[in-house]
Amino acid sequence: MSEKKGRVFSGARPTGRQHLGNYLGAIQNYVALQDEYECVYCIVDIHALTTMETTVGLRQNTFEMALDWLAAGIRPEDSIIFIQSYVPEVTELHTYLSMVTPLGKLTDLPTFKDKIRQHPNNVNYGLVGYPVLMSADIVLYKAGLVPVGVDQAPHIEFTRETVRSFNYRYQADVLIEPQMKVTQVPKVIGIDGQQKMSKSLDNHIEIAATPEETRKRIMMMVTDPQRIRRTDPGDPDVCNVFSMHKIFSSKEEVDQIDVECRRAGIGCVDCKKMLAKNMNDYFVPFRERRADFEKKPDQVWEILDDGAKRARVIAQATMEEVRAAIGIR
Ligand code: TRP
Repeated sequence: MSEKKGRVFSGARPTGRQHLGNYLGAIQNYVALQDEYECVYCIVDIHALTTMETTVGLRQNTFEMALDWLAAGIRPEDSIIFIQSYVPEVTELHTYLSMVTPLGKLTDLPTFKDKIRQHPNNVNYGLVGYPVLMSADIVLYKAGLVPVGVDQAPHIEFTRETVRSFNYRYQADVLIEPQMKVTQVPKVIGIDGQQKMSKSLDNHIEIAATPEETRKRIMMMVTDPQRIRRTDPGDPDVCNVFSMHKIFSSKEEVDQIDVECRRAGIGCVDCKKMLAKNMNDYFVPFRERRADFEKKPDQVWEILDDGAKRARVIAQATMEEVRAAIGIR
């Protein structure tokens, strides 16, 4: 581990089976970072509670997400993969960090304003503190680098400021200011051809879907809206099926579609069938590994327990320093 470049931490709320947007936007990047960094990946179930009115399905969603992460190539022998609530030190650190956090800073955050718009009837105390808990995640594990989507930039900036406030107030250099690593991926558009892929909009394609389900979802994809008849020429530059071909198909096929679509040489149905085949081929190894893990749920829970144990060693060491800096122990 010591020859690696530093520690990465990232977290995601347990949203169950992951879709192409999650995969291309985050998971692939998590997997790649393992070669160069010591990685800590966390399923942030406490964060999920901030917007949940019932926890029915929470455990199942946590498990399904862990399966997807593991099958996609997060390696528990190299990285730590764990569930946030299994390391309760994070809630203690959250409390301490809250003492150096001006309330107005939290209520001014654009992410907070979005959340209250989405959940106007559940604006709870925990929701206001969401970024404080996220800061606690990052600094508890002394992560130098946090790979996240650009929407999380205000939270990373907030974390950096919190670290400075804490270190300044207690005159101790115990917490590390993390750097954000923006995941450079094109926004993945849903099958509606318009909005960002998301489960709540039901415009998503699950990576663990069967080949048949995948094909069905692809056949539902909205293509170039100007292309109405089969004989109309299409514009691949505005077609989401074409953007996906660029990810899942060979260069030859992409070039061929680019030419043929523009002169109505290929129709959308055939174009989608090609995409379905290529996407399904791409996910064959992933789906095999996932099916293996699914047969051994105990092993998956063991991996998560072991991850929490290893995470807790780091967390407890940080907390010793934090309490000493504050002067309470
Ligand atoms: N807020 C992040 C999101 O919604 C999830 C998250 C929680 C996180 N804690 C984190 C991301 C720590 C990175 C680091 O995507």
